[in-house]
Amino acid sequence: MITTFLHLCGLLIGTVAILPSTEVLTNANVDEIVRQMTLEEKATLCVGGHISNSVPGAAGYTRPVERLGIPATVLADGPAGLRINPVREGSESTYYCTGFPIGTLLASSWDVNLVSEVTSAIGNEVLEYGVDVLLAPGVNIHRNPLCGRNFEYFSEDPVLSGNMAAAYINGVQSNKVGTSIKHFAGNNQETNRNENDARISTRALREIYLKNFEIAIRKANPWTVMSSYNKINGQYTQQSEDLLTKVLRDDWGYQGIVMTDWGSKAATVDASKAGNDLMEPGNEGEIARIIDAVRSGVLSEEILDRNVRNILNYIVKTPSFRKYQHSDRPDLAGHAEIARRAAGESIVLLRNEESTLPLGTDNKVALYGIGAMDFVAGGTGSGNVNKAYVVNLAEGLRNAGYSLDEDLLSYYESYIAYDKAAQKMKSNGNRPNWGGFASHKYSEIPVEQAAVNVQAANNDAAVIVIGRNAGEGSDRNLVADFELSEVERNLINTVSNTFHKEGKKVIVVLNVGGVIETASWKNLADAIVLPWSPGQEGANAIGDILSGKVNPSGKLPMTFPLAYFDHPSSINFPYDKAGAGDGLMSPVIGRGWQREAQKNVDFSEYEEGIWVGYRYFDTNDKAVSYPFGYGLSYTTFKYSNAIVRATSDGFVASVKVTNTGKVAGKEVVEVYVDAPEGGLEKPSKELKAFAKTALLQPGESETLSFRISRYELSSFNEEANRWECAAGRYSVMFGSNVSDIRASASCNISRTETFAVSDAYISR
Ligand code: BGC
Repeated sequence: MITTFLHLCGLLIGTVAILPSTEVLTNANVDEIVRQMTLEEKATLCVGGHISNSVPGAAGYTRPVERLGIPATVLADGPAGLRINPVREGSESTYYCTGFPIGTLLASSWDVNLVSEVTSAIGNEVLEYGVDVLLAPGVNIHRNPLCGRNFEYFSEDPVLSGNMAAAYINGVQSNKVGTSIKHFAGNNQETNRNENDARISTRALREIYLKNFEIAIRKANPWTVMSSYNKINGQYTQQSEDLLTKVLRDDWGYQGIVMTDWGSKAATVDASKAGNDLMEPGNEGEIARIIDAVRSGVLSEEILDRNVRNILNYIVKTPSFRKYQHSDRPDLAGHAEIARRAAGESIVLLRNEESTLPLGTDNKVALYGIGAMDFVAGGTGSGNVNKAYVVNLAEGLRNAGYSLDEDLLSYYESYIAYDKAAQKMKSNGNRPNWGGFASHKYSEIPVEQAAVNVQAANNDAAVIVIGRNAGEGSDRNLVADFELSEVERNLINTVSNTFHKEGKKVIVVLNVGGVIETASWKNLADAIVLPWSPGQEGANAIGDILSGKVNPSGKLPMTFPLAYFDHPSSINFPYDKAGAGDGLMSPVIGRGWQREAQKNVDFSEYEEGIWVGYRYFDTNDKAVSYPFGYGLSYTTFKYSNAIVRATSDGFVASVKVTNTGKVAGKEVVEVYVDAPEGGLEKPSKELKAFAKTALLQPGESETLSFRISRYELSSFNEEANRWECAAGRYSVMFGSNVSDIRASASCNISRTETFAVSDAYISR
């Protein structure tokens, strides 16, 4: 009513051309509002800025245009939960968010329903804390195990990664708040991430590094996309029309907005032209650049209008626009339960000799490793959630019913207390802010043989936790991070030799954010459990797994190689520069800040092409420590009745899974395809679909079916610049992991079908 009145006033005034219209934004008048905006207002809308009285700790904002009823909107980080400040000046209340499992652990569930359940809870916190967009999920491919941000990302495989991302986005957005899928694209290392040029073939881009984004965008339509800092093939992604317009919008039909990662580049105008609608976090200089460019004719106003229209179409969907009255009181207790269950459903059991696990809770446990008390719930940097508490492993095991060797724990406790006091003295009471305590991971401390002798006599089993923390801004080290440190190696050796002499079992818990070397020591452990960084309730979930309350059903979303240099990307990654940080520009005398371009720092050659992860290991029969998709259960499963039936669009495949063991359990079925070559080299197996059964009781069966389209079966022919689903026989394999195919069938596709794409990236 009011709007109509204002609209009429606007028209009347408009006819006599005295004042600009006072029509305000609705979800039906975006084009009209664009017409009414001044150049300054348009430029302002395309550049983020700080907004007072908003949500402390949010990462960024879009600016308001009050005259036209355009509100500011609030953007805050994820992905393991919402990241805002937990306390506010002048307020007694707290604003903690739930620390959920990291992306890699969620992907280890291989369960899209579980992921959506988790992220509906995250989305609810986004809504109730007054935020409009969660800056997540992170979906970059695990190209190399040392990437410092792999923990935020899902997998080495685009189909697993893309489907996890779609489930993530759908869950968050079911709350009518937005997501920002990131970092688009080719951001697979942290070292010099602002400048690094990722040199990737068109085929590897289309099949691997863009495919995950494509799946998520087609299946879930995220409100926003975040362009990355790095370059692809010589051009910043933020300024790439190939990426942001041709691929994203023309090929995939994306209609939301694109925003820069935090710290847009100097070429604001190039970014605007390329299809990067919003600059974040934004500064006044960027506004001025846009205005000047339009005035001087360098940037056409139509392009600016296109970007403004995209942003307005986003704004009308937000809670800020609909003036949602947020409570600041999400159900944290309920969400903590979801976090615990999600971790339990995702933890991967890597080894379980002689049914060491489950371990009865009547066993007294000697818990070794500083991680017992210094448990890593998540990573550091923008992905670090400010949670109210973290259950440490000692508490988690006690809560599960185990009694622990308290003398041993006090050894770790006193060391941590001593070190905290020492740090406090050194820093004069101040702690670094970026991750704060969370970023300080205590190094392992040595154990003494004499003490371990007593512990082995007094306890029934040993649990050793190996902890790692990773985070934004630097990659991981090869030594004492991917590989064990000497102290950790001695710890595993001493404890396992001593306990084994007493006939007692040793269980290793890997509380890590990324892949570590396991081949050299795994035989010393009777069982190995991989919870990754499982969130604030993760230690309780480990208790659930060790005690058998939950039967493990997680599987690896990446390969564990025998050694780092087995990895196809090993030498084309800054494995020797780790810890160097994301800004590596150093002066060369006489040449200011210029210097010779350095391999793996200024540019990274993706020489392995499409042969990423298992595509390489499996096709080349290269031995690994644990294959892609691997994970054990306390029960066993039989696969039968594999059927593949052609449809007009591809095929439908199904398989029957029966629980043949003694306890209830869930099984992830992985569907791999070996496609006819059709003139292209292809991996021996590619994951095309997956699903998890319901909880099957002993003897119970479930038939899972999968629909796979010809487009999904296609490979990218770089020469012809198109997707091709080659004619011929497709072998369809149902695997418990990539190296353990339990049933298969095949199907014929009689003629080659092709799918055209834009000309993006064909000039390389
Ligand atoms: C990170 C993004 C994050 C943004 C805002 C950047 O440094 O790369 O992932 O969303 O900061 O905090």
